Amino acid sequence: MTKALLGIIGGSGVYDLPGLSDIKEEKVDSPWGEPSDVLRFGRIGGTEAVFLPRHGRGHHLSPSGINYRANIDALKRVGVTDVISVSACGSFREELPPGMFVAVDQFVDRTFGRQTSFFGNGCVAHVSMAQPVAPLLLHRLIAAARAEQIEIVKGGTYVCMEGPQFSSKAESLSYKAAGYSVIGMTALPEAKLAREAEMSYATLAMVTDFDCWHDEIAAVEVTDIMEVVKSNADKAARLVARLLTDFPVEHQPCPVGSDRALDYALTTARDARDP
Ligand code: ADE
Repeated sequence: MTKALLGIIGGSGVYDLPGLSDIKEEKVDSPWGEPSDVLRFGRIGGTEAVFLPRHGRGHHLSPSGINYRANIDALKRVGVTDVISVSACGSFREELPPGMFVAVDQFVDRTFGRQTSFFGNGCVAHVSMAQPVAPLLLHRLIAAARAEQIEIVKGGTYVCMEGPQFSSKAESLSYKAAGYSVIGMTALPEAKLAREAEMSYATLAMVTDFDCWHDEIAAVEVTDIMEVVKSNADKAARLVARLLTDFPVEHQPCPVGSDRALDYALTTARDARDP
């Protein structure tokens, strides 16, 4: 049996995972460079978890400066099977106000300055991203929120922008018109890399603002984001703790093949691959 090990990636304002017991920290080296921080191992209930703050403790890494490959590789190296990220985001919908959680199920990539693949010349692979979020993990996120009586919306599209500047009003209106639900700067590279690393991935998106499309609400400032994150951090922690407590000890196969994404993705012949 493969044991489930949950990797939790904390976003803005989430630099720790309260409730972890038997904590041990480890610096994990990766051939892809430096992960954002040391990995913090612990347990909630019977489930083991590994926590990594994506901006580093003290928030010194910008969305474009995060080494996403090193982060995902480090989690894979220690045996993580499933990754949940907590990500602050702006909202394009009145019905998704600040403080609301969204278990997104789709992504749109508007980044341009990131390394979002472990593959390249030497070994070519094209994994499927048709269903970027693992359905079982999404289901467990929803179940954990319900069990804790935390309001959460199931499904939605997260557009990932490069940043670090926020969107212009024209951009914001165009994303809204396209039907996207939320916007952030970080979750998509992780989703792509987790898929290539054959780990299930889901994002717990925490709405912190209405970006800048709204006629009656001022355009987002980072102070608004941090305030909302702070006042919702305990809810996010409760939700993640519940998810961990209820998580099955044994790894369950992903219905869309997140955990075996390379089975059909490699195009380079085996004898032509780099060693
Ligand atoms: N993160 C939180 N709010 C955001 C917004 N409005 N745009 C991009 N990233 C965000």
